[in-house]
Amino acid sequence: MSRPENATALVTGASKGIGAAIAKALAADGWNVGVNYRSDEDGAKATVKAIEDAGARAIALHADVSNGDGKALIKQLGDELGPVLALVNNAGVARDGLAIQLSDDDWDTVIATNLSPAFRLTRDALRGMVKARYGRIVNIASVVGPRANAGQSNYAAAKAGLIGMTKTIAAEVARRGITVNAVAPGFIDTGMTAELATDEIVKAIPARRQGKPEEVAAAVRFLASDEAGYMTGTTLYVDGGMSA
Ligand SMILES: NC(=O)c1ccc[n+]([C@@H]2O[C@H](COP(=O)([O-])OP(=O)(O)OC[C@H]3O[C@@H](n4cnc5c(N)ncnc54)[C@H](OP(=O)(O)O)[C@@H]3O)[C@@H](O)[C@H]2O)c1
Repeated sequence: MSRPENATALVTGASKGIGAAIAKALAADGWNVGVNYRSDEDGAKATVKAIEDAGARAIALHADVSNGDGKALIKQLGDELGPVLALVNNAGVARDGLAIQLSDDDWDTVIATNLSPAFRLTRDALRGMVKARYGRIVNIASVVGPRANAGQSNYAAAKAGLIGMTKTIAAEVARRGITVNAVAPGFIDTGMTAELATDEIVKAIPARRQGKPEEVAAAVRFLASDEAGYMTGTTLYVDGGMSA
């Protein structure tokens, strides 16, 4: 089935980095886009402007996804742009520390931001997708989760959780024209990785470089397309060979 008229994509955490690149890539493919942000209003407005300048439709939506008001976001987008038939759960944070020292707060913040909202938003978006018999859900996971990365037990648990959730919900809704997939980036050049020792880390990456947000966005754009209608429950790695 092809994408219905006026279909809208909600991208969480789209004020910068990978989410902003995903929002622009989906808009370039004909989706209306809801650009969610938590604190960076200027970044979200810049993403919206870039999309509008390219001739597509977008609005900025303020919400802290860890607070769980997914239904309101989906309703607002539906009223202003069109039915939410794609959801990209991208918003994420890192609070690193070895397990022996990791605080309850750092554990809880990462699970509450990187994992739980993806479930709630998926549940809340599925109703409209089931009605439309069309939907695309993409969860932004990570190479960390399926593989170890010392100092990131909270982040790895959230990302591995996303991959498990992706597979199960994919199986639940596959017969309704809805696909649920994950994209697992490796080491991507964004604010999240700005403080890391890039030269050291890239030595362990077969491609010997950091990835660009646009390279992750290209995988999401494909998974959200009509052409990817028979792909579901899978994880696409965009990692320069890190997990090979
Ligand atoms: N960079 C990498 O190497 C890498 C690798 C693997 C996976 N990832 C994943 O890719 C995703 C995007 O990361 P990034 O590298 O683009 O990071 P980033 O540049 O730090 O951007 C993070 C985005 O998430 C938003 N966000 C954070 N907490 C939020 C909340 N509670 N509610 C709503 N939005 C929230 C931020 O919004 P505000 O700025 O408005 O607060 C921002 O737009 C994350 O899930 C991350 O785990 C990144």
